[in-house]
Amino acid sequence: MSEGIVADSEERVSHRSVILVSIVAALGGLLFGYDTAVVSGAIGFLETHFGLSAGMKGWAASSALIGCIPGAMFAGVVNDAIGRKKTLIICAVLFAISAIGTAIPTTLNEFVWYRFIGGLGVGAVSMTSPLYIAEIAPEHMRGRLVSLYQLAIVTGILVVFFVNTLIQRMGDEAWNVSTGWRWMFGSETLPAVLFGLAALFVPESPRWLARKGRTEEAQRTLTRFAGAGAAQRYMGDIQTSLSHADVSLKQLLTGRYRIPLLIGVLLAVFQQFSGINAIMYYAPEIFKAIGTSVDSAFVNTVSVGAVNLLFTVVAIYLVDKAGRRALLLGGTAGQVISLAAVAWLFQTQGSPFLVLVFILLFVASFAAAMGPVAWIVISEIFPNRVRGLAMSIATFVLWTACYLVSQTFPMMVDGIGSAATFWVYAGCSLASLIFVWVAVPETKGRTLEEIEESWPRL
Ligand code: BGC
Repeated sequence: MSEGIVADSEERVSHRSVILVSIVAALGGLLFGYDTAVVSGAIGFLETHFGLSAGMKGWAASSALIGCIPGAMFAGVVNDAIGRKKTLIICAVLFAISAIGTAIPTTLNEFVWYRFIGGLGVGAVSMTSPLYIAEIAPEHMRGRLVSLYQLAIVTGILVVFFVNTLIQRMGDEAWNVSTGWRWMFGSETLPAVLFGLAALFVPESPRWLARKGRTEEAQRTLTRFAGAGAAQRYMGDIQTSLSHADVSLKQLLTGRYRIPLLIGVLLAVFQQFSGINAIMYYAPEIFKAIGTSVDSAFVNTVSVGAVNLLFTVVAIYLVDKAGRRALLLGGTAGQVISLAAVAWLFQTQGSPFLVLVFILLFVASFAAAMGPVAWIVISEIFPNRVRGLAMSIATFVLWTACYLVSQTFPMMVDGIGSAATFWVYAGCSLASLIFVWVAVPETKGRTLEEIEESWPRL
């Protein structure tokens, strides 16, 4: 009996450490959201300040996304070479350089370069944070802890939205054009520095330490997070998984692990081809296009952010109970229905209010499933020896797909119209539903090593 009590309190203490460390890593998500969304409030003033053409405006707005692609691509190699912790610290440095650099540029070129540097940080942190959390979390709470990262992304988007509004109110139009936008970008220095300082105090991932032969340190961290008994058991499984020969990129593409790689890559593509960032980056434009006033477009955009946050909390509550598959199936079905309804309303020039309702339903369906669960599954399905490399590939594909959607959305609306554009997104979500049904395995409650062992041997 007393042993049980001791074990219980020991477990509570270690859970607290895991949660704290996961929150620190998830702060990377906050910077991801903050950095990608900061531009929405500043772009208009930037346009006037530098006298930008439409093309240059797009370039200024998307330069960070272009940095995300190589950021994600190289983060795997860096992660595997120097570890998760140091990579997180490098990301914080990139964010801080970018925040200061984008606040004081004298030319557009300088601005674009500093946004690109921030993008490298976003790309790298977007794979390192969930990777790190998945590697330290016990299996029964791994889904919830990786979801914290998605919650942080969404919070970052909302926070920057309010910060931008506050800054904008500090002066008149002329002040905003000369100075306001600089504060918007510069405001990111604070979260970047806080994240960097916090990352100095997190321990290195035990799975990475074990891979580098630093067994004692790995054992110490595992004991701190899981208690002595469980640490012993985890260590045995990790050693077995690492005792297999290393996997090269070629083997990853052709061998046993090409199945999880394909699942990871397709999840990344389907997450983005749902069209979520058409809504996140262009919401005010969409609302204005259906005849809402500028002011209500602003209010509607806030409701999009709020619903996104609320339903991410629902996902956190459900993901380790209902499981990944159930959430994904329900969520993607919700996406199909709501996107088809939006397309239909555009086609028939239906009520703007109903468009808002179904856009909110779409955001809710995404936030409760595909948003967090795609990141969770991508961080869980790869074997210990190739997790960095494989996650890098999946995240690289995710950012490329994100860039494609945000670039093509205005072009599609102009070219084929809003209704057809939303029918395309609805079709993609239908394909995504079928893919989840056929291919995505349930990973709830299994250790990373058990998931690794479950892939069929070819
Ligand atoms: C996606 C982002 C998106 C965000 C919106 C994330 O899971 O990867 O592209 O902007 O969710 O909540």
